[in-house]
Amino acid sequence: MIEYDPFSDTVMRDPWPYYAELRERAPVFYFEKYDTWFLSRFEDIWASTTNDLFSAERGVTPEMVLLKAAPPPDPVFSMLDMPRQRPYRRLLSAPYTRRAVAGLEEKIRSAVRAKLAPLLEAGSFDVYRDLANPIATEIIGEVIGLPEGETLPLRGTIKRYFARVPGQVGTTPEADQLRIETLTRFGEIVEERSKSLDPDAEDHISVMLRARIDGEPLDVGAIVAAIYTMLVTGAEVVPLAVANTVQYLWQHPDQRSEVVADPSKVPEAFAESLRYDQPTNLLGRFVKDDVEMRGQTLRTGQGVMFLWASGNRDENEFERADVFDISRRPRRSLSYGHGIHKCIGEHLGNIEGRVILEELLAAAPKYQVDTDHTERAYSEFLHGYHKMPIRV
Ligand code: HEM
Repeated sequence: MIEYDPFSDTVMRDPWPYYAELRERAPVFYFEKYDTWFLSRFEDIWASTTNDLFSAERGVTPEMVLLKAAPPPDPVFSMLDMPRQRPYRRLLSAPYTRRAVAGLEEKIRSAVRAKLAPLLEAGSFDVYRDLANPIATEIIGEVIGLPEGETLPLRGTIKRYFARVPGQVGTTPEADQLRIETLTRFGEIVEERSKSLDPDAEDHISVMLRARIDGEPLDVGAIVAAIYTMLVTGAEVVPLAVANTVQYLWQHPDQRSEVVADPSKVPEAFAESLRYDQPTNLLGRFVKDDVEMRGQTLRTGQGVMFLWASGNRDENEFERADVFDISRRPRRSLSYGHGIHKCIGEHLGNIEGRVILEELLAAAPKYQVDTDHTERAYSEFLHGYHKMPIRV
């Protein structure tokens, strides 16, 4: 009998033994309570993201797939199938190409240096709270085109939306209320911007306001839903991944020395931390038509969860998968997903992660993690360290 439940206290705290058991004994696991299948093997998840058997249109988050919360009423590209997804995703993709984010590097580096200098002077700080989270939030706020000064205060709202307390299933009504207030404010911002629209501005809001899809302008609701999606995805995941890397390099001093001696290995360390401790733990889809997988029949309309974090620890794909090893050069990875919904922010995430870690390791190569005060996020969706105090 498999005891796995993504909302249970033990799974939230330590999913790895459950994932190992699922991969071994029930790689296509049905949980009646949620009328949902859980895929835990690398190969199955990899294939399922490209084979068109599953739909994102009824939602992709655990709340939507497992608890059947309604997806946003307006189209957002993360919850559209092809061919509807393409024009919506295309509208926002320009700032995230490898080339475009390379153009942001110097700006990110100056922002990191400015934040880091007083922290180093203080001698101790929290890598997540004081460095990576404000940097990632400010950058995505600027790409979206939110008014200056309005993005950073939203960090609490985003955090509360994903945070759980033991026994709680899904977002609290209070956190949902904060989300609704944020969406209302975004609606006002979009309305205001539409009155003095800059024909050349490249921020997401201006681009979406000028856009036509099938000859029609986008509804304010669709623009608001898109910018909310970009904000929560852009602000929260990279900081967890940076804090995780700081933790695993601290736990593996030889590997930390290697990276300090040769900073060109920072991207490998960041990629290995994404593989080893995937911050976006799981996301899902719905079955389009009955389909067989490993002898099981998945029925139309049932949920399917991709356990990314489990796939990234699959021994069939990665040798010594439970070992943190920056020298592995994996052929494939699920860290940023795969297929048409592969992360739009992959290059931005990588450059933010690299620059923050390069600067931190150069300035504080012998940092010490205050292990008594680190803390992991408590959430079925986001995993990783959201408290990462260090002494320098
Ligand atoms: C280390 C950092 C990141 C990780 C590990 C990560 C992970 C992922 C994963 C696994 C997916 C696939 C979702 C699916 O198939 O349903 C995804 C999609 C997505 N990510 Fe990221 N992401 C990161 C950074 C970012 C950043 C910086 C942004 C914002 C610029 C972002 C925005 C998105 C969006 C909007 C999607 C949906 C894409 C679509 O459905 O077409 N992500 N991400």
